[in-house]
Amino acid sequence: MKDEVTSREDRVANLKGMGCSRKRVEDARFTQGKGNYVDDIKLDGMLFGDFVRSPYAHARIKSIDTAAALEVPGVLAVLTADDLRPLGLHWMPTLAGDKQMVLADGKVLFQGQEVAFVVAEDRYAAADGIELVEVDYEELPVIVDPFEALQSDVVLREDLVAEDGSIPDGAHGPRKHHNHIFTWEAGDKAPTEEVIANAEVVAEESMYYHRTHPCPLETCGCVASMDKVNGKLTLWGTFQAPHAIRTVVSLISGIEEHNIRVISPDIGGGFGNKVGAYPGYVCSVVASIVTGKPVKWIEDRMDNLMTTAFARDYHMTGKISATKDGKITGLHCHVTADHGGFDACADPTKFPAGFMNICTGSYDIPTAFLEVDGVYTNKAPGGVSYRCSFRVTEAVYFIERMIEVLAIKLDMDAAELRRINFIKKEQFPYTAALGWEYDSGDYHTAWDKALKAVDYEGLRAEQAQRVEDFKAGKTRKLMGIGLSFFTEIVGAGPVKNCDILGLGMFDSCEIRIHPTGSAIARLGTISQGQGHATTFAQILASEIGLPADSITIEEGDTDTAPYGLGTYGSRSTPVAGAATAMAGRKIRAKAQMIAAYLLEVHDNDVEFDVDRFVVKGAPEKFKTMKEIAFAAYNQAIPGIEPGLEAVSYYDPPNMTYPFGAYVCVMDIDVDTGVTEIRRFYALDDCGTRINPMIIEGQVHGGLTEALAVALGQEIAYDDMGNVKTGTLMDFFLPTAWEVPNYETDFTVTPSPHHPIGAKGVGESPHVGGVPCFSNAVQDAFRPFGNTHTNMPHDHWRIWRTANELGLHD
Ligand code: CDP
Repeated sequence: MKDEVTSREDRVANLKGMGCSRKRVEDARFTQGKGNYVDDIKLDGMLFGDFVRSPYAHARIKSIDTAAALEVPGVLAVLTADDLRPLGLHWMPTLAGDKQMVLADGKVLFQGQEVAFVVAEDRYAAADGIELVEVDYEELPVIVDPFEALQSDVVLREDLVAEDGSIPDGAHGPRKHHNHIFTWEAGDKAPTEEVIANAEVVAEESMYYHRTHPCPLETCGCVASMDKVNGKLTLWGTFQAPHAIRTVVSLISGIEEHNIRVISPDIGGGFGNKVGAYPGYVCSVVASIVTGKPVKWIEDRMDNLMTTAFARDYHMTGKISATKDGKITGLHCHVTADHGGFDACADPTKFPAGFMNICTGSYDIPTAFLEVDGVYTNKAPGGVSYRCSFRVTEAVYFIERMIEVLAIKLDMDAAELRRINFIKKEQFPYTAALGWEYDSGDYHTAWDKALKAVDYEGLRAEQAQRVEDFKAGKTRKLMGIGLSFFTEIVGAGPVKNCDILGLGMFDSCEIRIHPTGSAIARLGTISQGQGHATTFAQILASEIGLPADSITIEEGDTDTAPYGLGTYGSRSTPVAGAATAMAGRKIRAKAQMIAAYLLEVHDNDVEFDVDRFVVKGAPEKFKTMKEIAFAAYNQAIPGIEPGLEAVSYYDPPNMTYPFGAYVCVMDIDVDTGVTEIRRFYALDDCGTRINPMIIEGQVHGGLTEALAVALGQEIAYDDMGNVKTGTLMDFFLPTAWEVPNYETDFTVTPSPHHPIGAKGVGESPHVGGVPCFSNAVQDAFRPFGNTHTNMPHDHWRIWRTANELGLHD
């Protein structure tokens, strides 16, 4: 028998289990144009729907005339809020406990808002119809500044003012002003203020983390198909959380969940943009019910950038206190959060500012206080965690800038300041001042490894020489050394803390082993390019001893997959990955009983070894998992049910806390503002590594999006609320041209509570990368008096900083 002559090493290699850089199984179809995206779905008689969108950021709608549009050949219907009102569908709930207009109900609150939905036989007829819908707008004063919004008499959300003029509470408590959404606090206010007031050194800074957008290559879209005969609705869409979407559709439409099938096919990137529910989904469903035909809605690029969920837009003010020798004693953070026209942030219910309260970062800060004010303005709604776990990117940017600002105040090296304040290895599990319990970490080892790898001292000497040369007129290029050390919080989350719309944030895996020893596993998550079909099979291969190549992973179909909360916030590995391991262990437990029966020994006398159960002390006596699988279906085993299947719904006991140490070396031409990244070193610790190659790919992608955000990517508005960066001509999407060479590295500090010790990684490089790129720019100007400049650091802004610092004189 082949198994008997194969070495143990070969058997391990044959599994392609955890730790193996297994090639991505998805790529065979993606690289050959065989992916199946929403826009690839073509059904008989399918119609196309598209929106009439508001050109104004704030206006009253006096009338909508659809008559001319309905005359266009191929146009079948034009839906307005008046058509949806009788169904109660003219407004819909948002994930943040607010409500949002599906179609403009009397007024519009941001440019590009959905006003009417034209349903036609094809996209071209729909576009012609849109041109002929006549909307009579009366312009209203526009507010794009959240500070102005909190002072203004102009009421943006008239629906949220009581008849007597009072301001009712919102979903997150009292509101201070008619344009105010919530105040959220964490930590101890008075003790923090006292520590800061009495500190030896205090550094203060205000910073704006600009509005940007996840901009996935595939825009959002769906196909709704109502089968009126069977009463079944099928909805294909770019959904990062298909089960949650099914529940929301059921709640909104009244169709029972078992009659709704939601399918997320292949998805071309999500990065948070595809978590929420958009008016296009509701209108497509209604249009399909009304017409009895399938209806497709697919955004174009401008629709996506201008109207679907934005990210960031946080105005942050910080105070950080320390002793003279650099030991941090307190941190105070206030955020004014611009949420646009509706509060459609995608955060767990109890966290209206996400996990912003991880803003003490990787440092042992004894006292801290955070206060966030959410505000309505005339901008698009959203507030998603663009490649980050619920505002962690904002939190890490804030603390990593505050550390740099404090280092300047103390006239200290920023690497050393970090080192003396890191949480020590022996302090884990560590409870931070703002409440989180960090599971594991070894920050000093990671930091030392990073600084040694880049020859930090050598870089600082080179930088000092460069400053001398610049002052002597020998060069016009400055050199910046960007540092960042981040701690992420991923894997939402324990159900007791985290829910979205009341749905607890567990996740799931169901496994079926077939008689021939191959398997299918279905999960509640959905890959958008992260390679789940590759890596989750690797977890199972190691857990159940069947080759990863024999295991199919399926996600995204609510008719077949177990209920789960989806993929965002790097939660797939911490939560669904754990469910996968746990379901695998259930399989293994049953397999152990079958093996013992077949080998005629007691259950405790066999042990698992790679791909088989072996009789203890008699390695020649074994049953492979393949043999056991067959026996599960063809042998009558007393006391054991036939078959080999398992399901696990996993509620994590805590989140996982991946971390990393990044260094960026950048040259800046002060006369053109052009940046050149000479080196980027990224050390990531995501606990147990499932697939090193995929991790490296995740790091490359996350860093590239970080580069984009730090160096130019922005959703900018003018004073009239016009979006100035609504196309890829203006919105910076980096290409191979801008992307530097990344040097990746790692340490491994397993999560103590995760079944395989894995933490998430998908977002870490973005979270750590943004402050690293930004710090490199700021550091180049530090010798010339710079403390802080706001992102994005595009060439023009960098030139302006140089100019303001007198470097062009
Ligand atoms: O939730 P999402 O898939 O976006 O993020 P993730 O859980 O961090 O996983 C991203 C990819 O990296 C997946 O294919 C994971 O299986 C893989 N990964 C890994 O190989 N090892 C880890 N410790 C964490 C993630």
